[in-house]
Amino acid sequence: MNGLPSSAAPAEPTGELTLSEAASLLSGADMASTKALPERGIPSVLMTDGSNGLAMNLPDFSGKVPATCFPTSSALAATWDPALVGQVAGAIAREASAAGADVLLSPGMNLKRSPLGGRNFEYYSEDPLLTGELAVGFVEGVQGEGVGACVKHFVANNQETDRMRVSADVSERALRELYLRAFEEVVTRAKPWLVMASYNRVNGTYVSEDERLLTGILREEWGFDGVVVSDWGAVDDRVRALRAGLDLEMPSTSGASDAQVVAAVDAGTLDADVVHRSARRVADLAVRAAASGTHRGESSTTAPSAADLAITAAERSTVLLRNEHGVLPLAPTAGVAVIGAYASAPRFQGGGSAGVQPKQPAGSIVDAVGARHAGTVEYAPGYADDGLTRDPALLEQAVSVAAAADVAIVVVGSPESAESEGYDRADLGLPEAQNELVAAVAAAARSTVVVVISGGPVRTEAWRTSVDAIVSTGLAGQGVSLGLASILVGDADPGGRLAETWPRELADTPSFLSFPGEGGHSAYGEGIFVGYRGHDRTGGEVAFPFGHGLSYGETRFEDLAVSPSASGWSVEVTVVNVSERAAREVVQLYVEAPDHAARRAPRALVGFAAVAVAPGQTTRVRIEVPRRALERWDEAAACWTLDSGAHTIVAARSSRDAVLRHEIDVVGDDLRMPLTADSTLVEWLEHPAVGPALIAAVTEADPSGRTTGMLTNPMAVLMIGGLPIHRLAVDAGNALTLDLLDRVAGSQTD
Ligand code: BGC
Repeated sequence: MNGLPSSAAPAEPTGELTLSEAASLLSGADMASTKALPERGIPSVLMTDGSNGLAMNLPDFSGKVPATCFPTSSALAATWDPALVGQVAGAIAREASAAGADVLLSPGMNLKRSPLGGRNFEYYSEDPLLTGELAVGFVEGVQGEGVGACVKHFVANNQETDRMRVSADVSERALRELYLRAFEEVVTRAKPWLVMASYNRVNGTYVSEDERLLTGILREEWGFDGVVVSDWGAVDDRVRALRAGLDLEMPSTSGASDAQVVAAVDAGTLDADVVHRSARRVADLAVRAAASGTHRGESSTTAPSAADLAITAAERSTVLLRNEHGVLPLAPTAGVAVIGAYASAPRFQGGGSAGVQPKQPAGSIVDAVGARHAGTVEYAPGYADDGLTRDPALLEQAVSVAAAADVAIVVVGSPESAESEGYDRADLGLPEAQNELVAAVAAAARSTVVVVISGGPVRTEAWRTSVDAIVSTGLAGQGVSLGLASILVGDADPGGRLAETWPRELADTPSFLSFPGEGGHSAYGEGIFVGYRGHDRTGGEVAFPFGHGLSYGETRFEDLAVSPSASGWSVEVTVVNVSERAAREVVQLYVEAPDHAARRAPRALVGFAAVAVAPGQTTRVRIEVPRRALERWDEAAACWTLDSGAHTIVAARSSRDAVLRHEIDVVGDDLRMPLTADSTLVEWLEHPAVGPALIAAVTEADPSGRTTGMLTNPMAVLMIGGLPIHRLAVDAGNALTLDLLDRVAGSQTD
C-alpha cells in the first residue's frame, strides 16, 4: 500500500537524498498519494478525504468506497462535545486505515464568517474556541488510531465564490482572534501531522506563498513540525511556495513542478537547503505513517459499532429550537401526521469532496417514527421529491392528513443543490413550496412541529412563531431518521445547542455588506464581529442565538465560582436537574471584557462543558479558562495582551441567556506603546510618567507659562491633541523642541 511491502519494518530514511530525489518528494505521485523512494526507505503516503465519513474515491473515480456516514461537522458541532467528535473521528480513521489510507484530510475548521458559506456544513462554528476544541477532539480521535490528521483550510478560506483566487482582506486582529485562533489551538495542543494551505489569498498574498503564515506563525510561533500540504491545485508558483514553507504540492503535476524546483536551485534562485528541509519533512511523515500503520486497528475490537455510533451522533446533534405547549416529546398515543417528501428520503450530507457513499441507507423518517411511536403515523409528501417544486394536489392532501392528526410533523430543508463545495448559498430561504406547506399545515393542524434538515441556518420568519415546535437535525448522516425519531418520541433528550446564530434575515448578519466581495477581494469589514459577536454588538434580534437549544428536562445553574489557576482561571458551576427527565445540558461560559480603545464583543465564549444529568441529580462542572481566552490582539503593539480591570464571567445557556455572573478583577499587562515623536500630544500627556515630566520640562523651559498653558488647557488639547507631537516641535513659539522631547521620553522607563 505504501510502495513498500506491507510487512516491511518502518525504516529510517537512508543516506543523503540527491537534489532530484528531494524535489521528487515535494509533489504528489497521483491524486492522493506522495511519491515513494523505496531504495531510500521512504514509502508513499496515501491520503483521503473524510470529514463525516471516509470519502475515498474508487480507483477509477466512478464513485466512493462505501463507508459509515456520520453527521457533518456542522451538525456534530451542535453536540458541543469534543469527546464524541473524537469517537466519530476514530471510527472514520479506522475505516480509512482499513481502506489503506495513512492520512485523513480533515478536519475542516474554517470559521463561518457568513451563513452563506457553501462549505459551512464541513465546518464547525462561527466561534473560534468551539471550533478549536472540537477540532482538537477530531485530531486526537484520528491520530489515536495511528492515522494522520490534516487540518484545513489554513486560513481565511471562508467562501466558495472565487475561492481559488479571492483575497481575504482582513485585519491582523480579526485574523489572530478568530481565523487563526482555532488553528493555533489545534496545532499547539493536538499536533496534527499535516496542515493544508488553502486556495485563497490573505491580504493579497496566496496562503500557499505566504511565508509569514506558513513559517513565521505556523512553525516559529506555534511550533508546528509536520508537513504543510497545498489544497489540491492551490499552488500558483511552486518555487515561491516552497520558499514560503509549503512542503508538499498536491496532486501530481507529472513532474513539472519538481523540474521547476531543480531548475531554480541550478539557477541560484532557490537554496538547495530549502528543498532538502521540505523533503525531510515529507520523508518523516512517510516513515511515521508506516510506523503507525503497524499498530492500526488495535482499538477496533473495543470500539462501538460505527453504525450505532452514527445513530447516537445523529441523535446528539439534534437541536430543539422551540417547544411550546409541551408538544414534544410526542404524547405516546398521539395520532401523528408526518409530512414532507424529505421525511421519506431525508437529506443527510452535503456535496463535494467530503461526500460519503453510505454503507447503510439513511432510511425514512416516517418508518423510524412509525417504529418508535405507539400511536398512529400517517404520511403525506406535501411537495415534490426535489424539495423545490410546488404541487397543489400534494399540498391539499397534506393539509387534510394534518388536520386529521393530533400532531403534524412537517419535514423541510434546504435542497441538495443549495449546499456544496464549489459555490456559496444564494440566500437563507427555504424553497417557497416548503414555506407554503408549513404555513398551510400550521393553519390546519392542532399542533405543528417543523423539522429542518440543513447544513446551516435557514430563514424561519415566515412561520417561526406560528408553529409549536422547531427541531434542527443538521445534516445528520445515515443515522438521521433513527436519531431524530428517538428525540421526537422522547427516548433521548435533545442535548444539541446551536454552534452558529440563526439570524432572522440575511441582511442582519455582520458580513452581509461585504460577502462575498468583488474584483478578487473580500473585505472582512466586520472585523472581529463575526456571528454572535456582531449580532450581540448591534443588539439586533435574532431568530435563535448562538448556543441556544432546549431540553425536555429542566436544569438550574448554581454557585458560579471563579478562582485563579496556573494557566488562567478555574470556573465551577453546579448543574441541578430539577425535573423528572434525564437532561443533557451545555454550560457555556462567556466573558464580558471591559471596552477599551479596542472594542470587544459584548460576550465571547471562553469555555464550555456538555453534561448529562439524571433526574434530581446535581453535578459540579469544572471548566478551565486559559488566560488567552481573555486576551485580545493589540494592533499597534502587534501582540496578545490582557487588559486590566473588571471582567465578568457569565454562565449562560446561549450568548443571550446569561444565568449567573461573577466579576473578577484582572491585573493585566497594561500594554503601552513606546512614545515616539510620532505619538500624539494626548498619548504623551496621558502617559503616567511622561505626562507630568513633559509639563515640568516645558514649565521650566518657558517661564512665560505660554507652553504650559497650551498643554493644560482642555480646549486646546481637544483641538491639537491628535497631532503627532513632532509637528508641534517645529513651532519656535513654544518650548517643545525635539531635544526636550528626547530628554522627557527617557522617563518612560523610569
Ligand atoms: C478541497 C479539499 C480536499 C481536496 C482533496 C479540494 O478541492 O478543497 O478540502 O481535501 O480537494 O480532495
